[in-house]
Amino acid sequence: MSDWLGLTGRTAAVTGGGSGIGQGCALALARAGVIVWALDRDEAALADTAQQAADEGALVTGIACNVTDVESVRRAATTAGAVDILVNAAGISRPGTLLDVSAEDWQRVLDINLTGYLTTTRAFAPAMVERGSGSLIHVASISSRNPQPGSGAYSASKAGVALMSQQLAYELGPSGVRSNTVSPGLVRTPMTEAYYQAPGVAERRDAAIPLRRVARADDIADVVVFLASERSRYVTGADITVDGGFATTLMGTVPRPGYDG
Ligand SMILES: NC(=O)c1ccc[n+]([C@@H]2O[C@H](COP(=O)([O-])OP(=O)(O)OC[C@H]3O[C@@H](n4cnc5c(N)ncnc54)[C@H](O)[C@@H]3O)[C@@H](O)[C@H]2O)c1
Repeated sequence: MSDWLGLTGRTAAVTGGGSGIGQGCALALARAGVIVWALDRDEAALADTAQQAADEGALVTGIACNVTDVESVRRAATTAGAVDILVNAAGISRPGTLLDVSAEDWQRVLDINLTGYLTTTRAFAPAMVERGSGSLIHVASISSRNPQPGSGAYSASKAGVALMSQQLAYELGPSGVRSNTVSPGLVRTPMTEAYYQAPGVAERRDAAIPLRRVARADDIADVVVFLASERSRYVTGADITVDGGFATTLMGTVPRPGYDG
C-alpha cells in the first residue's frame, strides 16, 4: 500500500524540532513526504535535524524561533507560510515542589510549555481556518493527569495543554481544523538523559513499564504522524497516551496479600 498516510506534499511546522521528540516528529513527518519547517531557539540543533533529514533524502528546514517571543513566532510563520500541520513540542522542565519552585521557574515553565503552544497556534491556525483544514498536535504528558514529585510547575503546564487542546478542538472544529494531544510517558531524550546516566535508573525505569522499555522519540513521533494524517480525520479533542502502558500500573504500587503476581 503506497502512501497510506497521504501526507506527500503536505507542509508542517514543528516546534522544538531541534531535539528529542520534536526532532523525531520533524524527521518522521519528513520521511512520510511532508515538507517540514523545524522551529527551535537552538540553531545548532536545527542544523543537526536538517542534516539528519538530508542524509535520508528528506527535507527539514530550520527556522530559529523563540516560542516565548510573539514577534519571533510571527516571523517564523511568515517564513513557513500556510502549513497543514502544527506540532507543538518545544518544552522545558524545572525541579521544585509547588511550595518551593521559584516564581521565575514557575513562570518560565508556563511561558514555554503552555503559552508557547498557544502563541504558535495563534500564528499558524488562522491560515488553516481560512483553508478549511489543518491538524494541530500538542505534545502533552501523562504528567497532565498524574502529579509528579518535585515537578509542580511542569504537571500544571501539561494539564493546561490538555484542556487548551480540547478547547481548540471545540472552537476550530466547525472550520475543519482538528486539535489533539499525545501524552508520552518516559522518553529518553536530551531533556531526560541526565537521569539515565545515574546508576541503575535506566534498568529500573524499563522494569516499571509493562512493555519493559522506556520510549524513544520515534515511538511518540509515529503517533504524531498518524494524527497529522487524514487517517485520523474524525479524531479531534482527543488524547493518545503513548507510554508503553506505564499509566495503567497504579494498582501495582500497593501490597495486596493473596493477589500477588
Ligand atoms: N522526555 C520525556 O520523557 C517527555 C515525556 C513527556 C512529555 N515530554 C514533552 O515533550 C516535549 C519535548 O521534550 P524532549 O524530551 O524532546 O525535550 P528536549 O529538551 O530534547 O527538546 C526540547 C526542544 O525545545 C526547544 N525549546 C525549549 N524552549 C524553547 C523556546 N522558548 N523556543 C523554542 N524552542 C525551545 C529546545 O531548544 C529543545 O530543542 C516537551 O514538551 C516535553 O515536555 C517529554
